Amino acid sequence: MAEQNALRIVVTAAEVVGFAKTGGLADVCGSLPRALAQRGHQVAVIMPLYRGVRFSKKNVPTPTETTLAVPLGERTVPSRIWTAPLPDSSATVYFIEEASYFERDDPTHGRGLYQFTNEHGQKTDYWDNGERFAFFGRAVLEAIHALHLRPDILHANDWQVGLVPALLAEVYRRHAGLEQTSSLFTIHNLAYQGSFPAEMLWLTGLGNHLYNQHQLEAYGRLNFLKAGMVFADRISTVSSSYAQEIQTGEYGYGLDGVLRERAQRLSGIVNGVEYGDWNPATDKYIAAHYTPATLAEGKAQCKADLQRFFKLPVQADVPLLGVVARLVDQKGVDLIAAGAYRLLNQGVQIVILGEGDPHFHHQLQQVQQRYPRQLGLYIGFDEKLAHRIEAGIDIFLMPSRYEPSGLNQLYSLKYGAVPVVRATGGLADTITDTNASTLAAGTATGFRFVPYTVDAFLDAVQRALALYWGQPPVWQQVARTGMEQDWSWDRSARAYEALYRLLQAERTAATVLRPRSHW
Ligand code: ADP
Ligand code: GLC
Repeated sequence: MAEQNALRIVVTAAEVVGFAKTGGLADVCGSLPRALAQRGHQVAVIMPLYRGVRFSKKNVPTPTETTLAVPLGERTVPSRIWTAPLPDSSATVYFIEEASYFERDDPTHGRGLYQFTNEHGQKTDYWDNGERFAFFGRAVLEAIHALHLRPDILHANDWQVGLVPALLAEVYRRHAGLEQTSSLFTIHNLAYQGSFPAEMLWLTGLGNHLYNQHQLEAYGRLNFLKAGMVFADRISTVSSSYAQEIQTGEYGYGLDGVLRERAQRLSGIVNGVEYGDWNPATDKYIAAHYTPATLAEGKAQCKADLQRFFKLPVQADVPLLGVVARLVDQKGVDLIAAGAYRLLNQGVQIVILGEGDPHFHHQLQQVQQRYPRQLGLYIGFDEKLAHRIEAGIDIFLMPSRYEPSGLNQLYSLKYGAVPVVRATGGLADTITDTNASTLAAGTATGFRFVPYTVDAFLDAVQRALALYWGQPPVWQQVARTGMEQDWSWDRSARAYEALYRLLQAERTAATVLRPRSHW
């Protein structure tokens, strides 16, 4: 790309894969900057300096000379910026240091990025999450200023950085270097809003006059996600279907009205896959490499490896079903737990990797106690095992109640693990149901169902099993069709690029109409 066409982009989020991850947000905020840099743009990423980042053994960051004095309520909090290259990329990651806020994570003691495990084994939000991310949002803008980044686009992701577009619009737009900066706010999950007591407002640097139902307030509380939605120049979410769904009462989590009001500024871009990490032909974690042409042999070896790992009988002809997910309400874990009995009675094997709500852990543990030779359960977070599961299973289960985009169904396609999904959000946008006409057209990649019921879920799984058992060559064909699809990040990055250019054009038009002296 010619230099003058390159955009200066700052992406900010609370997690970036390679440094810190609890879910797909991290995947996106690592892969999108990489894909954008690959396309010739100048990209910087800003995230907190967690303990796990500072003391990690790979991708180790170093301190810079740049210090910040971040206003927070009546205080000024000193901070230093650290940096590291984004792995395999020309993009740079900047980390905001503030030990008391961000150096408390320690998985061995049940302390995560946003939550800790209390004495009853329950995950509990840190009491000061509002303060932590009010600080971080402010620090992002201070860092952009101090580092002279002068971005064309400031792209904030999810509630933790929801204040960033608001601070840009209300406080920092007048600062040198930020007059031409447009903001995009991406919602990865509307259910997590960052809702805090109204008294928090005074910490944020945003004026009291903004605390009203059209701006920062929702249901009597300060809402970080809403702040991002209201103040960003444009909003995006991570699939077209989810962009529609969240404008309805059923999926809107109380903010559908705001989204309907801003519908003209809202769009959906589905996530991509980092095929450098997720490709069965090269994956460093799996027992055998394979391609569409060698699917049957490769998967057979990976399946045996997975059965051994979970201490299940090594049987090639028994269908192996799998789940990798945060075990939370969103992911349809109740359907899986309830449906598992009927499936296991038919003789299939199931493996599950995940962690989340203790009551789901308990439900799944009960199933496992009844079917120890058929159900493999690993409660925890394990990147390597996630890869081995995708490679070893025949069928991937993702019956989500809602799914903004979803990455695991896309990984499953690439690994020839045919997905059974509930047709919602990104799952509806990426998986084509298998039926006579899609088989004839050669487009079938999975199995879909709509009503959120155990029966509808099991019907879809039964259709998958019938094909697996009854017509193995057709099954292989469906799996191969999925493997051959292209859900690479470059595709999604082009769509973001188009949105950024639109934002830039809109700002230029606005500046021409409204000369600076009139601001
Ligand atoms: P979400 O962001 O809602 O959790 P996605 O499908 O977008 O859902 O992304 C989930 C990401 O987190 C995937 O990369 C998946 O492999 C990973 N993941 C989720 N749970 C685990 C786990 N227990 N162990 C390892 N990886 C996990
Ligand atoms: C959220 C969503 C998931 C999406 C991910 C990344 O965590 O639950 O569907 O893929 O964000 O955008």
